[in-house]
Amino acid sequence: MSKVETTHQKGGRPTINKTTAIAVDGPAGAGKSTVARKVAEKLGFLYVDTGAMYRALTLFALRRGVPINNDEALSELIKQVRLDVKPGRILLNGEDVTVPIRSPEVSRHVSLVARLPSVRRYLLKLQRELAANVNVVMEGRDIGTVVLPEADKKFFITASVAERAKRRRQDLLTQGHDISVEKLEKEIAERDLLDSTRDIAPLKPASDAIFIDTTRMTIQEVVDRIVSEVQGNR
Ligand code: CDP
Repeated sequence: MSKVETTHQKGGRPTINKTTAIAVDGPAGAGKSTVARKVAEKLGFLYVDTGAMYRALTLFALRRGVPINNDEALSELIKQVRLDVKPGRILLNGEDVTVPIRSPEVSRHVSLVARLPSVRRYLLKLQRELAANVNVVMEGRDIGTVVLPEADKKFFITASVAERAKRRRQDLLTQGHDISVEKLEKEIAERDLLDSTRDIAPLKPASDAIFIDTTRMTIQEVVDRIVSEVQGNR
């Protein structure tokens, strides 16, 4: 978004610090997280996984037994939440919840929580604050459209449902969850539908996003493609 920040150094002329924002959006299991993290590493930018923030709120609501469909209840819950986003980790009221937010139970409920206006309002503010004044690669569903509409480069990453379910199964196996591809395909399709049809900030490519179908691409190929776009080699 090329935010331009002017700082006045003691006795000197103002220096201009220009920051760069890269938006990576796409549906569940398209490989966004891995790709965005690697791109950020390569460019030396801050990596922000916004899905982890929605997941952390979902985990909190499930633990507290709050009805996850209820905007008022979530709005009250948010008052008791402190999220700290560190590179590759997320803390919920001081507790590192990086691993539990990936559980199948959180995955099944997160899109219901992510529809609620109070939740989106709260996280939008937090996400914009995180991107202020630093170079970022921010990844999610609505980054190029709503959170950072002025991002310098926007990518929309997808893959077939079958491929995404296969990848998700591999991820979950490494975490000790054995879930069939058929079940995952169904869950992913349900989440795609909820995410792309909700009223606020639905999942959709920004009009100026570069679309990448990763079905037949390796992670490294996708990373290289994005980095070369950002560095202006295309
Ligand atoms: O890792 P996975 O692709 O399964 O999803 P995620 O990025 O962790 O996001 C989990 C859920 O959070 C999504 O299915 C959306 O419902 C919600 N989300 C959102 O609404 N907006 C974002 N910017 C990021 C995530």
